[in-house]
Amino acid sequence: MAYPRIASLKTHDQFLSRLTELGLELPSDENVQQGGASVLAQPIQLTHDLIGNRFCILPMEGWDGTTDGQPSELTRRRWKNFGISGAKLIWGGEAVAVRHDGRANPNQLLLTEANLKSIESLRLDLVSAHESRFGNSDDLLVGLQLTHSGRYARPNEKARAEPLIPQHNPALDPRLGITDDSTLLSDDDLKRLIDDFIGAAVRSQKAGYRFVDIKHCHGYLGHELLSGFDRVGEFGGSFENRTRFLREIVAGIRSEAAGLELGVRISLFDFVPYRPGEDRVGVPDEKADPRLAFGGDGSGHGIDLAEPSRLMQLFEELGIQLVCTTAGSPYYNPHIQRPAYFPPSDGYQPPEDPLVGVVRQIQATAKIKQMHPNLTLVGSGYTYLQDWLPNVAQAVVRTGMADSIGLGRMVLSYPDLPADVIDGNVMTRKKVCRTFSDCTTAPRNGIVSGCYPLDPFYKAMPERKQLADLKSKA
Ligand SMILES: Cc1cc2nc3c(=O)[nH]c(=O)nc-3n(C[C@H](O)[C@H](O)[C@H](O)COP(=O)(O)O)c2cc1C
Ligand code: SF4
Repeated sequence: MAYPRIASLKTHDQFLSRLTELGLELPSDENVQQGGASVLAQPIQLTHDLIGNRFCILPMEGWDGTTDGQPSELTRRRWKNFGISGAKLIWGGEAVAVRHDGRANPNQLLLTEANLKSIESLRLDLVSAHESRFGNSDDLLVGLQLTHSGRYARPNEKARAEPLIPQHNPALDPRLGITDDSTLLSDDDLKRLIDDFIGAAVRSQKAGYRFVDIKHCHGYLGHELLSGFDRVGEFGGSFENRTRFLREIVAGIRSEAAGLELGVRISLFDFVPYRPGEDRVGVPDEKADPRLAFGGDGSGHGIDLAEPSRLMQLFEELGIQLVCTTAGSPYYNPHIQRPAYFPPSDGYQPPEDPLVGVVRQIQATAKIKQMHPNLTLVGSGYTYLQDWLPNVAQAVVRTGMADSIGLGRMVLSYPDLPADVIDGNVMTRKKVCRTFSDCTTAPRNGIVSGCYPLDPFYKAMPERKQLADLKSKA
């Protein structure tokens, strides 16, 4: 495996040639505009809200809350960085569990009544950081991502999986030690969970968030329910049943938190789980059932957007305007979810040039945008573009392939990239994320997440040495 590194593509022409070599279709503008009239500085008018520009900060948790689910100083630092980024849409900040057994780790934020004030103060920290740098926050839209981690719940101990699943999965069950039906959620369990989502949405509104994201991505519970073809009862089988969980949460929020806007982050397509093969290069898991890949074409590694498009139709009917697209799962097929040159410690070497993964997400989002022009679509997976991210971002928005460019890892290493791009400042190359994956490797090994290679704050932390030792032994 040796793909040319993006940093080695020194000119825009070289970048375009590499795309051509790979047979990839991706628009990219040679010159990135600056200032208020530029493409990326244009606002988006929603029915009730204004988003001041075309950059969005994607949700990113840091595994650094307190054990009772409140933010720590590290959490606040990250949210303040989101505030000074210059992006005018904050998609959820990070995954916040609606109840304890749905936490992905014992340090995930938890939206209980007791934690309401501290979760509100996180938003206030972000907004005031934004106001100090940009003068006001009139066109800043901040939402909260609500989650139940389902199969990937680890609420009590970092090293102990406590999965709660909607159906069995022959490739994923063995990875989590699931051997019987004891972890299966009943219809009554799901009904109680719907109430917990509604309760958390009510609290989000009280905490001043303008919208909540009812998370349906990355292999967590909402996402897994979408491919619950084998599940019997009210929440499985037909499209209507597989979307009941979402529809009932939406109905409950509409009646109990009127005026709160809704969004959904969705894995638009999925592949089967991968595992390290020869030389640790990722290969599809032989045990996988390709039918369980929502948005898949049945082969296990292809896309069919027919059902995702039907879901978008449903979003429109439900009055959901905001949709953030992503793909797959960071646990079982990270190369399609967060394309990286260097895999996380529990991952595998990329089976394709990571640029392929970037373009796959951008093109799938563009197709959905074409079919559903009324939805406001935020795309993801742009970080691997590195130095060429602004060029592609501008071209994607200019050609209407997405409304907003979501930024994940890039803002951990380079928090104010959006402001630099819009102001026309030369990008600071030493802050550009090179997809070392330490921000994923750290939490997979019980260490708080952060950009250890590039962010001076994390570079100075003792955990950096711990992480280096761990990687050298791997
Ligand atoms: C450290 C880390 C934490 C993340 N946490 C979340 C999360 O809480 N919720 C979520 O929907 N996605 C989460 N993601 C996924 C990102 O939002 C994003 O989809 C992914 O990193 C790909 O975008 P990028 O190429 O800009 O990094 C996380 C990613 C990273 C690296
Ligand atoms: S640790 Fe830093 S450089 Fe590495 S992927 Fe994460 S944000 Fe990028």
